[in-house]
Amino acid sequence: MKTSQEKAARIRACKHSKHVTLVTGYDYPTGRLLDEAGVDIILVGDSVGMVMLGFPDTTHVTMAHMLHHVAATARGVKNALVLGDMPIHTYDTVEAAVETARQLYDVGADAVKLEGGAEQAEKIKAIVEAGIPVIGHIGLLPQRVKEEGGYKIKGKTEEEALALLADVAAVAEAGVCAVVVEGVRPDTARRLTIASPIPTLGIGAGSHTCDGDVVVIHDLVGAFPWFVPGFIKPRANVAEVMTTAVKSWMKDSYTEPGSVTYPAEKED
Ligand code: KIV
Repeated sequence: MKTSQEKAARIRACKHSKHVTLVTGYDYPTGRLLDEAGVDIILVGDSVGMVMLGFPDTTHVTMAHMLHHVAATARGVKNALVLGDMPIHTYDTVEAAVETARQLYDVGADAVKLEGGAEQAEKIKAIVEAGIPVIGHIGLLPQRVKEEGGYKIKGKTEEEALALLADVAAVAEAGVCAVVVEGVRPDTARRLTIASPIPTLGIGAGSHTCDGDVVVIHDLVGAFPWFVPGFIKPRANVAEVMTTAVKSWMKDSYTEPGSVTYPAEKED
C-alpha cells in the first residue's frame, strides 16, 4: 500500500497526464465501494453535515463529526487518497490548522482540504511542512455561506478572475497537490486550469474545464432526492430503489392480525 505522500505525489503527477476523479464518501461501505471502483480521491467532505447529518449547510459540522466519518471511511480504502475536510473554525490560526490536520491524518486521512486562497497560504505551508499533504479549495466556499448570504458563482468579472488566478498561484506555491475549483464560471475555470501547475478539480465549474471532476456521491446516485444541484445529472435512483425494497418487504411480511399462533397458545 502506498504512503499518503506517495498518493499525493501521484495526484500531483496527473497534471497533463490523467483526468482525476474525486467522489465524496462518508462511511466504510461507500469508501470501500468507491475504492474498488477505482476512484482517485475519496473526499470525506463537510458536506457530510448536509447529506448524512441533516444540517442545512456545512457550518454545523464539528471536528467530532469529521473524525468519526474519516476513520470509518479510511477503514474501507486501500488505494485511493482519503481526503479529510477541515471543518469551519478549526483552522483559524496556523497552529490550529496544523493541529486539526494532524488529528484528521491520525485517524486515516491521507491529506486534508481547507477552504480559501492566498489568505490560507501560510497555513497550507505549515501543514505541508508538518508532513501532511493538502488539497486547496477556491471559488465558491460553502463555509462562507452565511457571510455571503447564499452560494454565489465566482469568476464573473475580470477582477474576480484575476483574484482567483492569484489564489491558484498562492496555494500551489504553498505546496498543495491539487486544488478544488467550486462554483466558478466555466471560462474562468478554464483559465485557472491553463495557468495552474497542479491539477484543478472542478465542481459546478462547467464540463471539460478542469483537470479532474468532483461529485457528491448522493447527487451522483440519486440518494438525496430532496435537493439535487442543477449541474448534476444523477446516474441512478438509489432513493427509489431503497423505498421500493422497503415497501415490497413490508407487503410480503404482512400478517393478518390474530393469525399468528404462539407456542404457548399451542400447548393449551
Ligand atoms: O464537502 C464537500 O463535499 C466539498 C466538495 C463540494 C468539494 O467540499
